[in-house]
Amino acid sequence: MNMKTLKDIDIEGKRVLVRVDFNVPLDKDGNITDDTRIRGVLPTLSYLLEKKSVLIIASHLGRPKGNAVPEFSLSPVAGRLSKLLGKEVKMASDCVGPDVKKSVSEIEPGDVILLENLRFHSEEQENDDLFAKELASLCDVFINDAFAVSHRVNASVGAITKYVSEAGAGFLLKRELDYFKNAMTDPKRPLIAIVGGAKVSTKLAAVNNMIQHVNKLIIGGAMANTFIKSAGFEVGKSMIESGRVEEAASIMKKAAEEGVKLYTPVDVAVANKIGPDEKIRYVPVQEIPENKMALDIGPASTVLFDEVLYDAGTIVWNGPMGVFETEPFSHGTINMVKSVANSDALSIIGGGDTNAAVHMAGESDRISFISTGGGAFLTLLEGKTLPGVAALDATG
Ligand code: 3PG
Repeated sequence: MNMKTLKDIDIEGKRVLVRVDFNVPLDKDGNITDDTRIRGVLPTLSYLLEKKSVLIIASHLGRPKGNAVPEFSLSPVAGRLSKLLGKEVKMASDCVGPDVKKSVSEIEPGDVILLENLRFHSEEQENDDLFAKELASLCDVFINDAFAVSHRVNASVGAITKYVSEAGAGFLLKRELDYFKNAMTDPKRPLIAIVGGAKVSTKLAAVNNMIQHVNKLIIGGAMANTFIKSAGFEVGKSMIESGRVEEAASIMKKAAEEGVKLYTPVDVAVANKIGPDEKIRYVPVQEIPENKMALDIGPASTVLFDEVLYDAGTIVWNGPMGVFETEPFSHGTINMVKSVANSDALSIIGGGDTNAAVHMAGESDRISFISTGGGAFLTLLEGKTLPGVAALDATG
């Protein structure tokens, strides 16, 4: 990585535009239900404030598709950030345009302004040069601390780097990349990956890449159904991607060739449908009834996976073991969280669902690192460079 980081750049008294990912979950009344992503960038923001920078913060929220939709305004975030920083955060009326330029020019060193949602302009997601130039004109220095959106080729993480005189990574982006690199390039072994979630198609690239690095691979969640099917068993009414059965078989073959120990569930929780009051039954994967759906791993799989993790040196986990949001199907995922938390291994977890499960289990303090990224984390698991990081590298 050539990119500069915050400490390599003279930011004292400068106008610094920090791209963050404040794409936080909101309830129907607009209250923030999880502020992890806001807390994650506080070290960067506090450092800049100590250095008396003029702090200009930019983010997206949701997918307003180029329209100024009030429910996607960043105002609730300004309120929360103000509390966390212990100082006023001014809210700009937009992110570009003459009014914003004026508001930014009135900000004193050591003060903070939050620009309105970047995605109110379609140019943001089009990586538009003129839009990027306009954003760049607000600042002397650009800092990307938005790990979670750095897999997107968007103007505020990509094109902007061409129009600023200095650019670098914030502390969160650097920390995310360092943790991941340590885990994948020189890990304490055995390195064990756990991959779950619903759709095997979204995880195939990651699984294929990880087979080249890991010693053991655990596959769970609905995506495991495709592997169960490829082993020759019927999966009843369970979610399955029939078009991927052959690929699942070739992954099993490749794992064997590479000496990677691959584990799939040996039993599952089956029910008629997803619902809080559904009656569940545990069955071996060889005996999934034709009228039922597999919605969680079973207790035998939990014991098996716990044993697999026994000697772990490093654990990387993305994706739940079942439909954990609905109580009768949460046990497999929650037990997996406990197994990872009980392990002495360095543990790294990424993805919105996996993070939610860790919080639900009350185990966030016993996980070494919880990534703020979903898609960005998956992109790293696929062995790819994040476009936002490549853009910074090009300036380094
Ligand atoms: C995320 O929540 O994963 C990031 O903020 C990116 O959001 P997006 O998937 O809408 O681009």
